[in-house]
Amino acid sequence: MVLDVIKMGNPILREVCQAIPVIDITNDEVQTFIDDLIDTMREKNGAGIAASQVGQLQRIFVMECDHNPRYPDRTDFALTVAINPTIEEFGEAMVDSWEGCLSIPGLRGMLPRSAKVELSAYDRDGNQFVRTIEGFEAVVAQHELDHLNGVLFVDRMKDMKYLTFQDEYVKYWLNE
Ligand code: NI
Repeated sequence: MVLDVIKMGNPILREVCQAIPVIDITNDEVQTFIDDLIDTMREKNGAGIAASQVGQLQRIFVMECDHNPRYPDRTDFALTVAINPTIEEFGEAMVDSWEGCLSIPGLRGMLPRSAKVELSAYDRDGNQFVRTIEGFEAVVAQHELDHLNGVLFVDRMKDMKYLTFQDEYVKYWLNE
């Protein structure tokens, strides 16, 4: 089921989400919620979505990039469901990341992100995993983890001249 996505200005987006007891991960309620998050991400062409964006203060995000029309220039990556995620080892290399957000519709902004990170989390079966990821996938993981801590991409911007509307991003910056 596709859920409503709340937008910047809604105080829920600034709250810190709560960890899910591992024993609850396989409960019907949590499993249905994960399905709903995936449906919502895909319907709205997000590369990821965090639980707080649909008003649930739980530490879950999902991410996927499969020929996403909102990110035509990015590398695809497979679906990941991350529960109680942490990003433990940030590499030293940084990238200039142009990001959008389903909770900040119509805008893009550029900010620094780690190029390569180690993501640890539980999957939807309740199994722990640790994966080193890089490129767009690493950027999305950092963006979604920020949501679980009440942080939005605009908070991490260093220069507001790189906050643009989507059309202007495509016109002036996409092929830079
Ligand atoms: Ni977002």
